[in-house]
Amino acid sequence: MIDEALLARITVIVPAAGKGVRMGARKQWAQVNGQPLLHHTLSSMLQLGAREVVLVVSADDDGYKQVPLCQACRIVLGGATRADSVLAALTSMQVDRTDWVLVHDGARPCVRLEDIRHLIATVSDHEVGGILATPIVETVKQVVHGEIERTLDRRLLWAAQTPQMFRYGLLRDSLESVGASTSEITDDASALEIAGFHPRIVEGHSDNIKVTTPEDLLLASRILEYRSSP
Ligand code: CTP
Ligand code: MG
Repeated sequence: MIDEALLARITVIVPAAGKGVRMGARKQWAQVNGQPLLHHTLSSMLQLGAREVVLVVSADDDGYKQVPLCQACRIVLGGATRADSVLAALTSMQVDRTDWVLVHDGARPCVRLEDIRHLIATVSDHEVGGILATPIVETVKQVVHGEIERTLDRRLLWAAQTPQMFRYGLLRDSLESVGASTSEITDDASALEIAGFHPRIVEGHSDNIKVTTPEDLLLASRILEYRSSP
């Protein structure tokens, strides 16, 4: 169990202002088992019982008005990159620098609540914060112009997921100093790493997929279906 005092210091941010270029459509509204994908993500985030859930949407997308769970969130307008969107949420908040933000991609509907709670419990005594991740199981090649340059040592490699939970002040400063528009910043931890911090790694599960391409929708649907079956 995570105590109420800690939950009261955690703000959840769900960036969902992407355009879904690789999906070919804004994937947050794609139907997964009879509900929009974002419904599944928000359902988990709202169950946590944190102080607030901030949902970041695009200024030219009012799809959230059709999704009842979005009404339980505070809506903030996002920016051109994921980092811009997260920064927009951070600048809209008034909390202490050492309070927590837990950022979770709208596009990860299959995260397990027990993994989120494990992340919160493991990271809450850390000065910076940490992220859910899984050890790499594949053999990973570094490739230049279609030819293998070398094989990376996978014992050192982890695949970063979300949620990622950080101290509010450090994340905001890092994103602001790195320049949120930089396209290399594809997760929140990257901004902290560039600023010289070392977030903790917490092992999650590989079924916390980020829905990116059309075939991922089927996978997400099967994962959620399997989990809800008796
Ligand atoms: N996101 C965001 N604001 C942006 C870009 C992305 O809030 N300017 C969000 C997405 O909505 C998604 C999460 O960040 O929930 C992870 O991004 P990604 O999977 O890359 O989604 P998209 O950017 O929508 O997809 P693509 O890169 O294929 O366009
Ligand atoms: Mg993207």
